[in-house]
Order: sequence, then structure tokens, then C-alpha cells
Amino acid sequence: MQWAIRSVPYHLWLHLTPQGRRDLRFDESHHVITEGISQPEVEHAVQYAPVQPARFRAAMRRLPIDPHKFTFIDIGSGKGRALILAREFGFRRVLGIEVSEKLCEIARSNAPEAEVRCVNALDFEPPPEDSVIHMFNPFRDPVMSMFAARIEESLETPPPHKVWVVYHRPFFAAAFEQSRVFEEFRREGDRLAIFRAKTEMSAAPK
Ligand SMILES: C[S@@+](CC[C@H](N)C(=O)[O-])C[C@H]1O[C@@H](n2cnc3c(N)ncnc32)[C@H](O)[C@@H]1O
Repeated sequence: MQWAIRSVPYHLWLHLTPQGRRDLRFDESHHVITEGISQPEVEHAVQYAPVQPARFRAAMRRLPIDPHKFTFIDIGSGKGRALILAREFGFRRVLGIEVSEKLCEIARSNAPEAEVRCVNALDFEPPPEDSVIHMFNPFRDPVMSMFAARIEESLETPPPHKVWVVYHRPFFAAAFEQSRVFEEFRREGDRLAIFRAKTEMSAAPK
């Protein structure tokens, strides 16, 4: 019921504002449905809502990398909008991690070229390859801190690899800000934070 009530302002925004209508056009032009909001049944999860295409593209343009050499991983990939957008940038591999089975099914149909794994982000082992980890505010603390620790650990797995973290709405970025492994590359208030692992195999041996 709470979600039905919350979805009213969302749908008003979607249909009545220029930004909302631009978002609707994304779905129309890609013949998908990525709009909508829903709440996954998992602790500390933020509800599903799709990233705004303009925000996604602006963030990706900030990265000083060649996407063709990187794997794109969307943590909390929802209905797959970021997976569709990642293809525009030519990432060599596109991977979505999503806890809700219903959303995974929709994402697989919306972004058939991406690999979608229906798993809690805390059970996902990031692959030891050059990667961009994309997050549009998927979960709160303590899950975000636990997830950051997981990425740090994964940097110890050979071969040496580069990891960038693109975090929209970075309300729980403390774990990355205080990390000995990551450094902040760019900050745009509460809209965007970009972190990079300091060296290719950053985590020093314990
Ligand atoms: C704000 S939406 C972002 C959707 C998508 N990344 C995009 O940019 O369009 C956050 C997503 O994170 C998912 N999520 C929340 N907690 C999760 C967890 N522990 N593991 C995996 N996915 C999770 C939610 O189900 C939701 O789909």
C-alpha cells in the first residue's frame, strides 16, 4: 500500500515534467519498459527506480578509460536500463546483479545481450578484470559498507586489474571515502561520486 501511495508523485513527475517525459521517451525508443518503482524484499534495499539516461551518460563521460577494455557491472540492475545504456559506450562485457527475481526476468528481456545474475550483491564475487562498478543508490548501510569491503577483497585476486566505482546518489559513500584502497576521483554533491582503486592490485597483503 505504501508503495502505491509513493508511486503517485513518481507517476506525476514522469508524465508532467520535461525530465519525466524524456525518461518515457527512452523506453519508447528502445521498445522496453524500465519505468516504475517497486520495493525488493531484502534488508536495507532501496526501492527500484531507473537511472535517468542523461545522468548515466554524463557520469560515464567523466571516466578517463577506454570502455572497450572494461567490464560494466550494474549493482542492483533492476529492469536493466543501465545495462542498455552501457551498450552505447561499447563496454566489452555487461553484467547486471539484481536481488529481485521479477526484476531479473524483466531485465533479461529488456537487455538480452547483457548477463543478468539474480543474486544478492553481497554474494556476488566481482571478477578479477578491469571493471566499472555502477550503482544507482541500490542499498543503505551496513550493506554498502559490506559490499565495499567485498570489492576491496576482490582486488587482491590476480591478475592485477583496475576498478572504478560510479555511484549515483552516494548517500552511503563513507566506506569508499575512508577506504585505504579507493580514492575519490570526482564528487558532484549528493548526485554523483566516482572512486578508483589506487593501483591495479590495490589492497596490500594483510
Ligand atoms: C535505484 S534501483 C537502480 C536500478 C538500475 N541500476 C538503474 O540504474 O536503472 C536499485 C536496485 O537495487 C536492487 N537491490 C537492492 N538491494 C540489493 C542487493 N542487496 N543485491 C542486489 N540488488 C539489490 C533493487 O532491487 C533495485 O532494483
